[in-house]
Amino acid sequence: MAQDASPVSPGPVSPGRAPRPVRIAPSILSADFARLGDEINRVASEADVLHVDVMDGHFVPNLTIGPVVVTWIRRHCDLYLDCHLMMDNPGEYLEAFRDAGANSCTVHVEVGGTGELIGQMRDLGLHTGLAVNPETSFEDCEPWLDRVDMLLVMTVHPGFGGQSFMSEVVPKIARAREVIDRAGLDVELEVDGGVDVRTAPVVTLAGARLLVAGSAIFGREDPLGAAHAVREAANRALAGGAGPERGPDGDNGSDRGPSSDRGPSSDRHHLSDRDSS
Ligand code: DX5
Ligand code: ZN
Repeated sequence: MAQDASPVSPGPVSPGRAPRPVRIAPSILSADFARLGDEINRVASEADVLHVDVMDGHFVPNLTIGPVVVTWIRRHCDLYLDCHLMMDNPGEYLEAFRDAGANSCTVHVEVGGTGELIGQMRDLGLHTGLAVNPETSFEDCEPWLDRVDMLLVMTVHPGFGGQSFMSEVVPKIARAREVIDRAGLDVELEVDGGVDVRTAPVVTLAGARLLVAGSAIFGREDPLGAAHAVREAANRALAGGAGPERGPDGDNGSDRGPSSDRGPSSDRHHLSDRDSS
Protein backbone atom coordinates (compact mmCIF):
# COMPACT_ATOMS: atom_id res chain seq x y z
CA MET A 1 0.00 0.00 0.00
CA ALA A 2 1.54 3.27 -1.03
CA GLN A 3 1.63 5.79 1.77
CA ASP A 4 3.15 9.22 1.69
CA ALA A 5 4.82 11.05 4.53
CA SER A 6 2.71 13.70 6.19
CA PRO A 7 3.02 16.05 9.13
CA VAL A 8 -0.33 14.72 10.31
CA SER A 9 0.36 12.19 12.97
CA PRO A 10 -0.48 9.45 13.56
CA GLY A 11 -2.97 8.97 10.86
CA PRO A 12 -5.43 10.51 8.61
CA VAL A 13 -7.79 13.43 8.87
CA SER A 14 -10.66 13.21 6.45
CA PRO A 15 -10.18 15.38 3.39
CA GLY A 16 -11.79 18.74 3.93
CA ARG A 17 -12.75 17.86 7.46
CA ALA A 18 -11.55 19.93 10.38
CA PRO A 19 -9.68 18.05 13.07
CA ARG A 20 -12.07 16.68 15.64
CA PRO A 21 -11.34 16.85 19.34
CA VAL A 22 -12.85 13.42 19.92
CA ARG A 23 -12.89 10.86 17.18
CA ILE A 24 -15.15 7.91 16.65
CA ALA A 25 -14.24 4.44 15.47
CA PRO A 26 -17.32 2.36 14.69
CA SER A 27 -16.59 -1.31 15.30
CA ILE A 28 -18.02 -3.51 12.57
CA LEU A 29 -18.30 -6.40 15.01
CA SER A 30 -21.90 -5.34 15.65
CA ALA A 31 -22.73 -4.76 11.97
CA ASP A 32 -24.78 -7.04 9.76
CA PHE A 33 -21.96 -8.94 8.10
CA ALA A 34 -24.20 -10.04 5.26
CA ARG A 35 -24.59 -6.38 4.31
CA LEU A 36 -21.21 -5.13 5.41
CA GLY A 37 -20.54 -2.67 2.59
CA ASP A 38 -23.89 -0.94 3.13
CA GLU A 39 -23.44 -0.92 6.88
CA ILE A 40 -20.06 0.79 6.55
CA ASN A 41 -21.39 3.32 4.05
CA ARG A 42 -24.18 4.25 6.42
CA VAL A 43 -21.75 5.43 9.11
CA ALA A 44 -18.86 6.58 6.93
CA SER A 45 -19.43 10.32 7.37
CA GLU A 46 -19.21 9.96 11.16
CA ALA A 47 -16.37 7.45 11.16
CA ASP A 48 -12.88 8.80 11.68
CA VAL A 49 -11.55 5.27 11.83
CA LEU A 50 -13.16 1.94 11.00
CA HIS A 51 -12.42 -0.57 13.73
CA VAL A 52 -12.04 -4.15 12.52
CA ASP A 53 -12.05 -6.80 15.23
CA VAL A 54 -9.99 -9.85 14.36
CA MET A 55 -10.44 -12.79 16.73
CA ASP A 56 -8.63 -16.10 16.51
CA GLY A 57 -10.51 -18.40 18.88
CA HIS A 58 -7.39 -18.70 21.06
CA PHE A 59 -6.52 -15.30 22.47
CA VAL A 60 -10.25 -14.75 22.80
CA PRO A 61 -13.07 -17.32 22.73
CA ASN A 62 -14.55 -16.08 19.48
CA LEU A 63 -13.79 -16.12 15.77
CA THR A 64 -14.38 -13.29 13.36
CA ILE A 65 -12.67 -12.19 10.21
CA GLY A 66 -9.29 -12.03 8.54
CA PRO A 67 -7.38 -10.30 5.76
CA VAL A 68 -9.73 -11.55 3.04
CA VAL A 69 -12.60 -9.53 4.42
CA VAL A 70 -10.34 -6.51 5.01
CA THR A 71 -9.40 -6.63 1.32
CA TRP A 72 -13.06 -6.31 0.39
CA ILE A 73 -13.71 -3.57 2.91
CA ARG A 74 -10.81 -1.64 1.44
CA ARG A 75 -12.28 -1.98 -2.04
CA HIS A 76 -15.56 -0.54 -0.81
CA CYS A 77 -14.40 2.39 1.29
CA ASP A 78 -11.58 4.81 1.80
CA LEU A 79 -11.84 5.00 5.58
CA TYR A 80 -8.84 4.60 7.81
CA LEU A 81 -8.80 0.92 8.79
CA ASP A 82 -7.48 -0.17 12.15
CA CYS A 83 -7.34 -3.92 12.64
CA HIS A 84 -7.60 -4.87 16.30
CA LEU A 85 -5.78 -8.18 16.38
CA MET A 86 -7.06 -10.31 19.23
CA MET A 87 -4.72 -13.13 18.29
CA ASP A 88 -1.96 -15.18 19.86
CA ASN A 89 0.24 -14.89 16.78
CA PRO A 90 -0.37 -11.46 15.18
CA GLY A 91 3.15 -11.33 13.79
CA GLU A 92 2.30 -14.04 11.29
CA TYR A 93 -0.48 -11.94 9.78
CA LEU A 94 0.69 -8.32 9.88
CA GLU A 95 1.91 -8.35 6.33
CA ALA A 96 -1.36 -9.87 5.11
CA PHE A 97 -3.35 -7.15 6.85
CA ARG A 98 -1.08 -4.48 5.44
CA ASP A 99 -1.48 -5.94 1.95
CA ALA A 100 -5.24 -6.09 2.48
CA GLY A 101 -5.27 -2.33 3.03
CA ALA A 102 -5.09 -1.85 6.79
CA ASN A 103 -3.65 1.49 7.87
CA SER A 104 -2.82 0.32 11.34
CA CYS A 105 -2.79 -2.86 13.32
CA THR A 106 -3.26 -3.00 17.05
CA VAL A 107 -1.68 -5.92 18.89
CA HIS A 108 -2.17 -6.95 22.49
CA VAL A 109 0.64 -6.50 24.97
CA GLU A 110 -0.46 -9.75 26.62
CA VAL A 111 0.78 -11.88 23.70
CA GLY A 112 4.39 -10.81 24.31
CA GLY A 113 7.11 -10.04 21.80
CA THR A 114 5.85 -6.46 21.77
CA GLY A 115 9.10 -4.82 20.67
CA GLU A 116 9.43 -7.18 17.73
CA LEU A 117 5.80 -6.72 16.70
CA ILE A 118 6.11 -2.92 16.81
CA GLY A 119 9.25 -3.13 14.70
CA GLN A 120 7.49 -5.39 12.21
CA MET A 121 4.52 -3.04 11.90
CA ARG A 122 6.73 -0.03 11.39
CA ASP A 123 8.82 -1.83 8.80
CA LEU A 124 5.60 -2.68 6.97
CA GLY A 125 4.52 0.97 6.99
CA LEU A 126 1.63 0.32 9.35
CA HIS A 127 0.68 2.67 12.12
CA THR A 128 1.21 0.87 15.39
CA GLY A 129 -1.34 0.21 18.07
CA LEU A 130 -0.86 -1.50 21.41
CA ALA A 131 -3.87 -2.84 23.29
CA VAL A 132 -4.14 -3.62 26.96
CA ASN A 133 -6.76 -5.83 28.60
CA PRO A 134 -8.69 -4.69 31.66
CA GLU A 135 -6.73 -6.89 34.06
CA THR A 136 -3.32 -5.94 32.63
CA SER A 137 -1.58 -3.00 34.23
CA PHE A 138 -0.69 0.17 32.37
CA GLU A 139 2.92 -0.34 33.41
CA ASP A 140 3.13 -3.34 31.06
CA CYS A 141 2.57 -0.94 28.15
CA GLU A 142 4.52 2.03 29.39
CA PRO A 143 7.94 0.93 28.06
CA TRP A 144 6.54 0.86 24.50
CA LEU A 145 4.72 4.17 24.47
CA ASP A 146 7.42 6.09 22.66
CA ARG A 147 7.25 3.60 19.79
CA VAL A 148 3.52 3.36 19.20
CA ASP A 149 0.95 5.58 17.55
CA MET A 150 -2.00 4.40 19.62
CA LEU A 151 -2.64 2.92 23.01
CA LEU A 152 -5.91 1.00 23.13
CA VAL A 153 -7.30 0.56 26.62
CA MET A 154 -9.89 -2.20 26.73
CA THR A 155 -12.89 -1.37 28.89
CA VAL A 156 -14.37 -4.86 28.48
CA HIS A 157 -12.78 -8.29 28.31
CA PRO A 158 -12.10 -8.71 24.61
CA GLY A 159 -14.05 -11.22 22.58
CA PHE A 160 -17.60 -9.99 22.24
CA GLY A 161 -19.59 -6.87 21.51
CA GLY A 162 -22.35 -5.54 23.71
CA GLN A 163 -20.68 -6.11 27.07
CA SER A 164 -20.94 -3.80 30.06
CA PHE A 165 -18.44 -1.00 30.39
CA MET A 166 -15.90 -1.70 33.16
CA SER A 167 -15.68 1.52 35.10
CA GLU A 168 -12.79 0.14 37.15
CA VAL A 169 -10.58 0.67 34.09
CA VAL A 170 -11.13 4.44 34.08
CA PRO A 171 -8.14 5.17 36.36
CA LYS A 172 -5.93 3.35 33.85
CA ILE A 173 -7.13 5.68 31.10
CA ALA A 174 -6.39 8.67 33.30
CA ARG A 175 -2.96 7.31 34.17
CA ALA A 176 -2.16 6.75 30.50
CA ARG A 177 -3.24 10.30 29.66
CA GLU A 178 -1.07 11.67 32.44
CA VAL A 179 2.02 9.75 31.30
CA ILE A 180 1.48 10.53 27.62
CA ASP A 181 1.09 14.24 28.31
CA ARG A 182 3.90 14.49 30.79
CA ALA A 183 6.31 12.85 28.36
CA GLY A 184 4.93 14.87 25.44
CA LEU A 185 4.31 11.70 23.47
CA ASP A 186 2.48 11.66 20.17
CA VAL A 187 0.24 8.74 21.14
CA GLU A 188 -3.47 8.51 20.50
CA LEU A 189 -5.39 7.24 23.52
CA GLU A 190 -8.19 4.95 22.46
CA VAL A 191 -10.82 3.01 24.39
CA ASP A 192 -12.80 -0.02 23.31
CA GLY A 193 -15.72 -1.72 25.00
CA GLY A 194 -19.07 -0.57 26.30
CA VAL A 195 -18.71 2.92 24.89
CA ASP A 196 -22.04 4.66 24.37
CA VAL A 197 -23.61 8.05 25.02
CA ARG A 198 -23.45 7.47 28.75
CA THR A 199 -19.89 6.21 29.01
CA ALA A 200 -18.33 8.36 26.27
CA PRO A 201 -18.21 11.39 28.63
CA VAL A 202 -16.53 9.25 31.30
CA VAL A 203 -13.72 8.00 29.09
CA THR A 204 -13.29 11.37 27.43
CA LEU A 205 -12.93 13.16 30.74
CA ALA A 206 -10.37 10.52 31.73
CA GLY A 207 -8.36 11.45 28.64
CA ALA A 208 -9.41 9.19 25.77
CA ARG A 209 -9.75 10.83 22.37
CA LEU A 210 -10.53 7.94 20.03
CA LEU A 211 -13.66 6.04 21.01
CA VAL A 212 -14.48 2.61 19.58
CA ALA A 213 -18.17 1.79 19.66
CA GLY A 214 -19.88 -1.25 18.20
CA SER A 215 -23.30 -2.02 19.60
CA ALA A 216 -23.94 1.65 20.45
CA ILE A 217 -23.69 2.38 16.71
CA PHE A 218 -24.51 -0.67 14.61
CA GLY A 219 -26.96 -1.99 17.15
CA ARG A 220 -29.14 1.09 16.65
CA GLU A 221 -31.89 1.87 14.19
CA ASP A 222 -30.00 4.94 12.98
CA PRO A 223 -26.29 4.06 13.13
CA LEU A 224 -25.16 7.39 11.68
CA GLY A 225 -27.18 9.35 14.22
CA ALA A 226 -25.96 7.03 16.96
CA ALA A 227 -22.32 7.63 16.04
CA HIS A 228 -22.96 11.36 16.01
CA ALA A 229 -24.63 11.14 19.41
CA VAL A 230 -21.62 9.36 20.92
CA ARG A 231 -19.31 12.02 19.50
CA GLU A 232 -21.52 14.84 20.76
CA ALA A 233 -21.76 13.31 24.22
CA ALA A 234 -17.97 13.18 24.39
CA ASN A 235 -17.53 16.70 23.04
CA ARG A 236 -20.06 18.11 25.47
CA ALA A 237 -18.15 16.52 28.32
CA LEU A 238 -14.95 18.13 27.10
CA ALA A 239 -16.70 21.47 26.87
CA GLY A 240 -17.78 21.12 30.48
CA GLY A 241 -21.36 20.17 29.92
CA ALA A 242 -21.38 16.45 30.64
CA GLY A 243 -24.74 15.11 31.67
CA PRO A 244 -27.22 12.37 30.97
CA GLU A 245 -27.39 11.80 27.27
CA ARG A 246 -30.22 10.70 25.09
CA GLY A 247 -29.53 8.55 22.08
CA PRO A 248 -30.97 9.11 18.63
CA ASP A 249 -33.54 6.44 19.33
CA GLY A 250 -34.82 8.49 22.25
CA ASP A 251 -33.21 6.37 24.91
CA ASN A 252 -30.23 7.12 27.03
CA GLY A 253 -27.85 4.62 25.58
CA SER A 254 -27.65 0.93 26.27
CA ASP A 255 -28.50 -0.59 29.58
CA ARG A 256 -24.85 -0.64 30.49
CA GLY A 257 -23.33 1.07 33.47
CA PRO A 258 -22.03 4.28 33.44
CA SER A 259 -6.42 14.72 23.08
CA SER A 260 -6.15 15.36 20.86
CA ASP A 261 -6.68 16.56 17.27
CA ARG A 262 -4.67 13.76 15.91
CA GLY A 263 -4.65 10.03 15.62
CA PRO A 264 -6.08 7.79 13.03
CA SER A 265 -8.88 9.63 11.27
CA SER A 266 -9.17 10.85 7.55
CA ASP A 267 -7.09 10.41 4.53
CA ARG A 268 -5.80 6.90 4.84
CA HIS A 269 -2.57 7.68 3.06
CA HIS A 270 -1.25 9.99 5.73
CA LEU A 271 1.57 8.49 7.72
CA SER A 272 2.94 9.26 11.09
CA ASP A 273 5.71 11.84 11.02
CA ARG A 274 7.94 9.52 12.97
CA ASP A 275 10.52 7.57 11.17
CA SER A 276 10.21 3.85 11.11
CA SER A 277 13.43 3.13 12.92
C1 DX5 B 1 -14.57 -6.51 21.85
C2 DX5 B 1 -14.12 -5.72 20.67
C3 DX5 B 1 -14.80 -4.43 20.51
C4 DX5 B 1 -16.30 -4.53 20.34
C5 DX5 B 1 -16.88 -3.45 21.15
O1 DX5 B 1 -13.67 -7.51 22.10
O2 DX5 B 1 -12.74 -5.46 20.72
O3 DX5 B 1 -14.24 -3.63 19.49
O4 DX5 B 1 -16.74 -4.42 19.03
O5 DX5 B 1 -18.24 -3.60 21.14
P1 DX5 B 1 -19.17 -2.72 22.05
O6 DX5 B 1 -18.94 -1.28 21.64
O7 DX5 B 1 -20.52 -3.22 21.73
O8 DX5 B 1 -18.76 -2.94 23.48
ZN1 ZN C 1 -11.96 -3.99 19.25
